[in-house]
Amino acid sequence: MKKVKIAVLVSGGGTNLQALIDAQSSGIIKSGKIVCVISSKAGAYALTRAANAGIDAYTVSKKECGNQADFEEKIERILQKKGAELIILAGFMSILSADFTKKHENRIINVHPALIPSFCGAGYYGLKVHEAALQYGVKVTGATVHFVNEIPDGGKIIMQRAVKVHDGDTPEKLQKRVMKQAEWRILPASAELVCKKILNGEV
Ligand code: GRF
Repeated sequence: MKKVKIAVLVSGGGTNLQALIDAQSSGIIKSGKIVCVISSKAGAYALTRAANAGIDAYTVSKKECGNQADFEEKIERILQKKGAELIILAGFMSILSADFTKKHENRIINVHPALIPSFCGAGYYGLKVHEAALQYGVKVTGATVHFVNEIPDGGKIIMQRAVKVHDGDTPEKLQKRVMKQAEWRILPASAELVCKKILNGEV
């Protein structure tokens, strides 16, 4: 059965990558296959997770590239080589240009650790998102998977899942709960949904 070739872009611990790998093994993701992992940071633990799963892993360091064009050119070369048809940003901490996102319209998805349009956009990433949610005093937060376009966290929403904020939550505790109860579930589910739509020519 034809499967959509998936490239996962990472920068850190790779817990969302691990959720995708586990979902592929358990059959939650059956319309797609992870063919490569690309990290923007050398030594990211996500690379170890990829290696443990026997997935080709690459590092394209923004720092070493020096400029955005060279950084994206290197990523493009790997995507071409691997024949990637869907790009999943899983804890990817670098910005992708409008040129890059336009070139891959409706073929890039991202997981954001809040219920967009809350706590999103420039400057809202990682722990900062949860600090802002606690600062505001929301009782419910969660995660969103969306298509990526030229506006940070601006693309069409695919899936969301709500998570309760507990009294006394620290940003770290809240982040963990949002990952466990939301991100690690809706990213694999969204990946399967989008892969199926790609195979059916619906997106
Ligand atoms: C998580 O907060 C995720 O929401 C955000 O990046 C952080 C690290 O994710 N996108 P991971 O453990 O590297 O997948």
